[in-house]
Amino acid sequence: MNNAALLTSGDYADAVATATRAAAAYYADGTTTLGDDEYDALVRAIAAYEQEHPEELSEQSPTGKVAGGAAEGDVPHSVPMLSLDNVFSGEELADWAASLERRLGRAPAGWCVEPKLDGLAIAARYEAGALRQVLTRGNGLAGEDITHTAGDVLGLPAVLAEPVDVELRGEVLLTHAQFELANEIRTAHGAVPFANPRNGAAGTLRAKDRPYRIELTFFAYDAVGLDGADGALAHSALLERLAALGANTAASTAAAPQRCESVEEVQRRVEEIAGMRAALPFGIDGVVVKADDAADQAQAGSGSRAPRWAVARKLAAEHKVTRLLAVEWAVGRTGIIAPRAVLEPVVIDGVTVSFATLHNPADIERRGLMLGDRVFVYRAGDVIPRVEAPLVEERTGAEQPIVFPSACPRCGEAIDTGEQRWRCVRGRNCQAVASIIYAAGRDQLDIEGLGSTRAVQLVEAGLVRDLADVFTLTREQLLSLERMGSTSTDNLLAAIETARTRPLNRVLCALGVRGTGRSMSRRIAAHFGSMAAIRAADAETLAAVEGIGPEKARLVVSELAELSALLDRLAALGVGTQVTEPTAPAPAAAETAEGAGAAGGTGTAEGAQAAPAGPLAGEAVVVTGSMTGPLAALSRNEMNELIERAGGRASSSVSKRTTLLVAGEKAGSKRAKAEELGIRVLDPEQFATLLADHLPVAA
Ligand code: IVH
Repeated sequence: MNNAALLTSGDYADAVATATRAAAAYYADGTTTLGDDEYDALVRAIAAYEQEHPEELSEQSPTGKVAGGAAEGDVPHSVPMLSLDNVFSGEELADWAASLERRLGRAPAGWCVEPKLDGLAIAARYEAGALRQVLTRGNGLAGEDITHTAGDVLGLPAVLAEPVDVELRGEVLLTHAQFELANEIRTAHGAVPFANPRNGAAGTLRAKDRPYRIELTFFAYDAVGLDGADGALAHSALLERLAALGANTAASTAAAPQRCESVEEVQRRVEEIAGMRAALPFGIDGVVVKADDAADQAQAGSGSRAPRWAVARKLAAEHKVTRLLAVEWAVGRTGIIAPRAVLEPVVIDGVTVSFATLHNPADIERRGLMLGDRVFVYRAGDVIPRVEAPLVEERTGAEQPIVFPSACPRCGEAIDTGEQRWRCVRGRNCQAVASIIYAAGRDQLDIEGLGSTRAVQLVEAGLVRDLADVFTLTREQLLSLERMGSTSTDNLLAAIETARTRPLNRVLCALGVRGTGRSMSRRIAAHFGSMAAIRAADAETLAAVEGIGPEKARLVVSELAELSALLDRLAALGVGTQVTEPTAPAPAAAETAEGAGAAGGTGTAEGAQAAPAGPLAGEAVVVTGSMTGPLAALSRNEMNELIERAGGRASSSVSKRTTLLVAGEKAGSKRAKAEELGIRVLDPEQFATLLADHLPVAA
């Protein structure tokens, strides 16, 4: 999308009209007919055409204006509210920095790098420290008076810490949490949900007489008239002064503005901020790079549209518009019936998205979606893409209602619609096949030869109804199946025998207990040491396991009670009872672990709770990217098991508590975040060396 398409003279007028319409809608009420990437590409194509054909330059062109908006308010700005020029890559950023250096005749004294907040610019006028008037940016020369919304904007104080006359400038946006809440409030009032946070912020700022209030957040990034000496402070110092006056600034976030001394440092900080984008609690659509010092800014000056001392390094849009083609209803292994949107494929940040989650039927209703709708789809980092909202104003009348299933799409039984997430009344039995496939999976019981074809065959032949049945299969039964020769039969029986002796955590995980994935299963197994102890635990006892809150504890207890007959049979068949649950061995114990295993002892709660030791004792470890070297063959689950065997704690997300990141190939935002937090980072080879004594012996 970064390379401007070539326009012909016939297309130019159309392109200008389309861009002007989109910009007008964008600045007016945030409804937009074009995604950000498409708009940027169109403007670049227009600019390229104008450079070749300056005689044809249209007065309407979005390239030459102070701003793009047609929604002009009637309150003149004290000084124009400028926009920013855009660059779309590291090279373009370097070129821009070089051109600024040429203009100044030297390198700028320093740079400031900060997030480009994806909201709307406002000007907030204070007299003697008291907020008097708030204006939208409008067309940059005049804006609309929106003082009535000021009380709903966090970070925009009614009174500053000092009695100064000043006009604060900055961005107003809805954080992700504010956006979700806003849509809940709106739908509760029968209003159409906002398509995305930016549209929501735009609509909210201009709304009058709403029967409900929606909270927004302000980030200051500029000021006019402060201390009677505009342009005296370096930008980074100005931001500190604004924060001291009580205004919110991006300094309160992980993507805090940073002064950089060189273009290389600027590029690094840009990448860092880009890398933390998905984890930020609000949307950014780029990173702004500014010459920091006042003298450099004054010397570079401004054009009619944008300053020459600042530029926006745009990031690919996270929101894209596409069409909702269909809704599929998939039944999960616990019987949950989940809707999934089938989309006209759309590229978001380099990834083609054809499906997106719709969460649950209530969510579809809340968003007011219809088949055939043009919809906003959001995708950020590793998050599963989700449909945010329809573009209601673009409906043609051909859209169709989404039909909710009236019976379980898999087995035809009734649906329990009592909870937000619908569920087949047969629960996990509905999904016998899916449950068996899951239980036999590599990270659970790892039964080679029991894939989906075989599982369907076994269930359809009536040989297997649940997991315990797998352990009662006989040679004759297997040989009676189609395409099952004696070699496959013997191999499968051997794999089932091996599975019988898998450790407790894997058996627990194989049960598909709601609320317990792979790492939670390991924690529960390590805590209790035996299935009997787990089954005997009440909610309070379970809640002693790290990461289990009271609600999850109750869920797990009721799930286990539901599985009671199956668990009895598995125990009688010796599944999950034969091997000591691996817990972090003390160095001395590690040498004798083999002996303990041979003795056939089962883990005990006391043993399991012994203080972890080993090379990763006390470490909170996150693994990201693809593993290489000796770790290449390990699944993420096996990596986590390895970490726990070595005394560490495995987790999937980087936080302040993380002490070590293992970053493989194509490590992305987690690496950036770890570096930002100063967390130790090892590559897979270094990590393998550290854990040499704990690595699984190659078969
Ligand atoms: S500086 C004279 N800094 O981006 C300088 N703008 O695409 C003008 N924006 O109109 C703006 N974050 O609404 C600046 N850290 C930031 C920003 C920022 C978001 C917005 C602002 C501006 C638009 C230009």
